[in-house]
Amino acid sequence: MADIQTLKEESRVFPPPADMMKHAAISGMEAYQALCDEAERDYEGFWARLARENLSWQTPFTKTLDESDAPFYKWFSDGKLNVSYNCLDRNLDNGNADKTAIIFEADGGEVTRLTYRELHGRVCQFANGLKSLGIRKGDRVVIYMPMSVEGVVAMQACARIGATHSVVFGGFSAKSLQERIVDAGAVAVITADEQVRGGKHLPLKAIVDDAFALGGCDAVRNVVVYQRTSGKINWQQGRDLWMHELAASQPSACEPEWVDAEHPLFILYTSGSTGTPKGVQHSSGGYLLWAMLTMKWTFDVKPSDVFWCTADIGWVTGHSYIAYGPLAAGCTEVVFEGVPTYPDAGRFWDMIARHKVSIFYTAPTAIRSLIKAADANPAVHPDRYDLSSLRLLGSVGEPINPEAWMWYYKNIGHEKCPIVDTFWQTETGGHMITPLPGATPMVPGSCTLPLPGIMAAIVDETGQDLPNGQGGILVVKRPWPSMIRTIWNDPARFRKSYFPEELGGKTYLAGDGAIRNKDTGYFTITGRIDDVLNVSGHRMGTMEIESALVAHPMVAEAAVVGKPDETTGESICAFVVLKRPRPEGDEARQIAKELRDWVGKEIGPIAKPKELRFGDNLPKTRSGKIMRRLLRVLAKGEEITQDISTLENPAILEQLKHAI
Ligand code: PRX
Repeated sequence: MADIQTLKEESRVFPPPADMMKHAAISGMEAYQALCDEAERDYEGFWARLARENLSWQTPFTKTLDESDAPFYKWFSDGKLNVSYNCLDRNLDNGNADKTAIIFEADGGEVTRLTYRELHGRVCQFANGLKSLGIRKGDRVVIYMPMSVEGVVAMQACARIGATHSVVFGGFSAKSLQERIVDAGAVAVITADEQVRGGKHLPLKAIVDDAFALGGCDAVRNVVVYQRTSGKINWQQGRDLWMHELAASQPSACEPEWVDAEHPLFILYTSGSTGTPKGVQHSSGGYLLWAMLTMKWTFDVKPSDVFWCTADIGWVTGHSYIAYGPLAAGCTEVVFEGVPTYPDAGRFWDMIARHKVSIFYTAPTAIRSLIKAADANPAVHPDRYDLSSLRLLGSVGEPINPEAWMWYYKNIGHEKCPIVDTFWQTETGGHMITPLPGATPMVPGSCTLPLPGIMAAIVDETGQDLPNGQGGILVVKRPWPSMIRTIWNDPARFRKSYFPEELGGKTYLAGDGAIRNKDTGYFTITGRIDDVLNVSGHRMGTMEIESALVAHPMVAEAAVVGKPDETTGESICAFVVLKRPRPEGDEARQIAKELRDWVGKEIGPIAKPKELRFGDNLPKTRSGKIMRRLLRVLAKGEEITQDISTLENPAILEQLKHAI
């Protein structure tokens, strides 16, 4: 990974391609600046104009921004609309009815195509099915599904009837799922019998059953099951229903439920530095506006584009840039089930060639692992594939190091596709800081400049602006339409996490550090400033993993830190003290495996520590505080050069130095 010093010194600049500049939605830096100036001049007027021009309102709004209960901001609050109507019906009315909405490619390569008319019909039928179960506006529905047309249908159907969905990534464990079902107070769970990844069948319905067995899911009346594999599953009569049977007898029209712009479209759980995952609550109107507008601005989507975002619907990227944004923008999108390395590491390039993908959006981790694969096996090198359909590339979820950026630019984009390095978060709903493909000169490793209307800045701990060239805390100074509205069930935590008093209570704290280039003002994200890790673009709290470890009967104490990793960006390193003497050799390896599996069961496989080290104790100050900064140095395998005079037990450092 590139360190911050290299990034600060990165001087290569790549101008956007001239023809893209000519035709882009935001064409040239003057056009970008003009939009920024408009927002600066009349902030509310700017957003009101965009919301009127881009969304279809059943009841037009008259109030744009309501700051009376800040930081619980409201946008377009007296307007009514329906998100599914904006994504589907609108496309039937504007000539896209027979246009392909989704090209779905399954793990095994089977391809299904759906037009906007067909997708609309499927969503309406399923929405009617959900209504027949008594699911109403405001009810919460948990979606625990594989990547599928049905997953998108489930989300859109909830939106259509005004039910608030909460999608849980299919890699989370029964316990994580149960916690989310309980916290959301879900009345139904939509799942699949199994999911398929890299040729393997993995259970989903069985995990839902296990989640129920953990208790507390009493509000759930029904479990709706999409039949993906026809694998054997348990069935609870009266509670469990097949998705296809539920939809089959339903009419293919369903009047959308008109909701207030502020109506919660979804809750998506994400990790913070402390406590349990937080349910990030998003709105309907403001959220959709930004999902759609960033499709136009950042991806410059045109009617002829084939857009492919490789994320999973279990993450925010899959919400904004699979389930909602592309459909609201009326484009053709690829939806993919599987992994980038199956049947071989040429899968992405092969799919781009076969489906003539023109806009490709993926994560740096995927790029880095495919670089390695291409180096190791020329048969899967992107050179072997026809990538000439591509005109724009995107990166999301974690910092992209300049080497990976350059490889992506040269080998995938053939030096003619701009790369949009999009910085954003679950909480922001859509892109915040990113190059514009027809305007911004690109610098590898920098997400460049905030989108028009996004008042991003860098401040110190007291909220004072810092000059360019000086690293600090990334904040957003004004509310924006797609921002998080609250943490479900925990407004106090919302305030504390994102609008701390130290910054005045009205400035959004992103949780990342950043620095602006002295000359260009370009932003580079320097990483989280809290105890949140980013492993392969998956966000995890160190505390969550520590709690999972100490829940094991053998573990007395645990501390988890991130360690830079060439492929996954960061990896998880856990320092563990057992209730029994410190194990060594085979015994240590055996216990480490047991603990890794345990964490996999408690949270999910993505949270398994890559490395475990055992000590008789952890490095602590005299007052008993774990000195994590020392653990970070040890994890990296570096010598400790910092001051350790406050350390109670220096001898422990030697023990923790080496991986088992
Ligand atoms: O640290 C930043 C990193 O991912 C975090 C947000 O994670 P999550 O809510 O899971 O959303 C991921 C998908 C938007 C941020 O706080 N991050 C995201 N995009 C970038 C990034 N870091 C650097 N560059 C990016 N482009």
